[in-house]
Amino acid sequence: MPTKPTVYVGMSADLIHPGHINVLSRAAEIGDITIGLLTDAAIASYKRLPHMTFEQRKAVVENLKGVTRVIAQETLDYVPNLKQVKPAFVVHGDDWQSGVQQQTRQRVIDTLAEWGGELVEVPYTEGISSTQLNESVKQIGTTPNVRLSRLRRLIDAKPIVRVLEAHSGISGLIIETAAAERGGLKVEFDAMWSSSLTDSTARGKPDIEAVDISSRLGTINELFEVTTKPLIFDGDTGGKPEHFAFTVRSLERTGVSAVIIEDKEGLKRNSLFGIEVEQTQSSIEDFSHRIKVGKNAQVTNDFMVIARIESLILEQGMDDALTRAQAYIEAGADGIMIHSRQKESDEIFTFCDEYAKFANRKPLIVVPTSYRHVTEDELIDHGVNVVIYANHMMRAAYPAMSKVAHTILESGRALEVDPMIAPIKDALAIIPENAS
Ligand code: SPV
Ligand code: MG
Repeated sequence: MPTKPTVYVGMSADLIHPGHINVLSRAAEIGDITIGLLTDAAIASYKRLPHMTFEQRKAVVENLKGVTRVIAQETLDYVPNLKQVKPAFVVHGDDWQSGVQQQTRQRVIDTLAEWGGELVEVPYTEGISSTQLNESVKQIGTTPNVRLSRLRRLIDAKPIVRVLEAHSGISGLIIETAAAERGGLKVEFDAMWSSSLTDSTARGKPDIEAVDISSRLGTINELFEVTTKPLIFDGDTGGKPEHFAFTVRSLERTGVSAVIIEDKEGLKRNSLFGIEVEQTQSSIEDFSHRIKVGKNAQVTNDFMVIARIESLILEQGMDDALTRAQAYIEAGADGIMIHSRQKESDEIFTFCDEYAKFANRKPLIVVPTSYRHVTEDELIDHGVNVVIYANHMMRAAYPAMSKVAHTILESGRALEVDPMIAPIKDALAIIPENAS
């Protein structure tokens, strides 16, 4: 019997719908289907991380009618897999003739031409799309463990995970939905940062661990009620080790992905004061103990306890920072956050470059508040895995609110603030349910 031609179909296969089935039915008519299943990293290179992991998606696709085998497609670009499989046909929906996948399509056509292969396009199935389904899934929300595990998946899949500070439902909603185009690709925030500075400021309190954990968890619940993205919690010093164990349990149960604790003790002050105020760094032994207590307290495998090093903030030198990074990793930290308050990037990049040489390196997190001219691409070049924009939503809201308050006082009426504020129609539209 003559063997059937090989047909290659590239897919993300996160939310399977009739459009996928149409493509597969057409492919099955032509030959034996090999699915190139896009990895998390391949998908995250141009759109949101899929809901299901690679293994979960693979299990589904392997059981679809007509599929002979499933291989990983590591990039959005089909070429490496096509050169390896040398299929006679590639089948795809015709929706990629425009938009972000246009170039990918052309490269498929050019590569197939090398051995006389052909691209077959199936008309786009109207009325259903992954984008629509994703919107519906967002409406349904998420569960604590799905949200929790997403941070590790993002770190594995993305060159850099982009995190923005959130201190209220509205700031969380903006992070959930904000998107922009950069270099032809859609970019969005991957996660939220519950900052001790801005959560305290929102309550009119100083950043000295005066807002208790129950109140901080209140903010998180507010955020989680209206968002699906993961959250990293600023745990300050972690408090007494015995208390930190309870904090870890509470955060994990809520669906928080990671806690970052800093190696300070006594009355904690904000790091950006540096040595202008009195701050005490913990001994390596004491802080390592705190890390171990946190790690022992967690229930899931996915929760992360991240160690934040204050040596550069407190001017203890680069060697001290690197020694501590090594010690904290040995104590079980799942990541290292290095903080710097220098305006120039030399200090932070020196640390990153030395850290990159560690054999047992864990994900590296930075907070470019002072050295804010540094781009995400530069951070990637120096091996940074997570960037946290730690206070910008609060710093945006404060001057805006303050200016409006002053202008109403000066004017004796509200008309003059019109150009400074959203029209009431837009304000109502922020929350779509207002209209329903
Ligand atoms: C925070 O956002 O509360 C932080 C970062 O801990 S910093 O304010 O720079 O110390
Ligand atoms: Mg803080």
